[in-house]
Amino acid sequence: MDLALVTSGGDAPGMNAAIRAFVRQGLLGQHRIWGILRGLEGIVRAVRQELKTESVADIIMTGGTMLHTSRFVDFHNAATQETAVKQLREWGLDGLAVLGGNGSLRAAHAMSQAGFPVVGIPSSIDNDIYGTDDSIGYDTAVNNITQSIDKMRDTASSHERIFVVEVMGNRSGALAIGSGLAAGAEAIVVPERPVNAELIADRLRTTHARGKKHSFIVVAEGAARAERLANELSMMTGFEVRWVVLGHTQRGGPPSAKDRWLGSLLGSAAISFLENGSHGLMVGVRSDAVRGISLEEVARNEKPPQYSWLELAEQLAL
Ligand code: F6P
Repeated sequence: MDLALVTSGGDAPGMNAAIRAFVRQGLLGQHRIWGILRGLEGIVRAVRQELKTESVADIIMTGGTMLHTSRFVDFHNAATQETAVKQLREWGLDGLAVLGGNGSLRAAHAMSQAGFPVVGIPSSIDNDIYGTDDSIGYDTAVNNITQSIDKMRDTASSHERIFVVEVMGNRSGALAIGSGLAAGAEAIVVPERPVNAELIADRLRTTHARGKKHSFIVVAEGAARAERLANELSMMTGFEVRWVVLGHTQRGGPPSAKDRWLGSLLGSAAISFLENGSHGLMVGVRSDAVRGISLEEVARNEKPPQYSWLELAEQLAL
């Protein structure tokens, strides 16, 4: 078979491990493997390269994506989707794997509905994809954030300050919750729940009256801006509050071992699915086992954040 893969949307650490697995598993199955460059736009612009075993040497430990990526909003248009499917057919491809987050998986679903064999691989630091416990990149990003907060803790403790740390997650609080629990944050603010600055201020007053000298509030970018929340809390409590926006430092750097495992498992599973004629699916993990779930179900549903973790983090930090 002639099989291709494309990375789309925001890059995620561990994508390269998945590319390596897809290429090498595909070559083991005697297939020809193609990498489409610069995301879904690369399909429409017809840019691809053949990948051999040496093409993916020494990438398992690197972040980003060797195939490059882009946010291609034009793919929402039916006409662009048609052009893409036409191009995939012109290339004579028998199947495509799409690595990306929710937007990319919706695009994968559209191509699959148009009759092209597509398998999705959940890859997003947001971990907000329905049907899989984990998405590639989340574990690394949580570790990156946790390490940054650990470093800030030295200053927070020395100066007896409060820090508001803004993390990524426009529509999802998963990153804020995972890192907030790991870093021992006093409060976590997520887009799925309205911000209540007064409640946070109350908590700070109570805990500091009991002897706490410093605190961390982790806020997802989609819930509130760190600067504004920090100013509000400073005015409400009179404490010294600093704010930090971690930005793209969260998404870069070497993938964690967990993201390398996940990339290896899912990249390899995508080949098995395409070989067996199973498509229109996303390969995900549930309780450590790889399983397929229809792209339609993925596109139709939202993954709720772990509210119980949020509550636990706040209880434990009191
Ligand atoms: O989807 C991953 C993500 O990192 C989000 O958490 C964030 O809102 C967005 O991408 C940022 O995208 P960009 O790098 O295109 O600004």
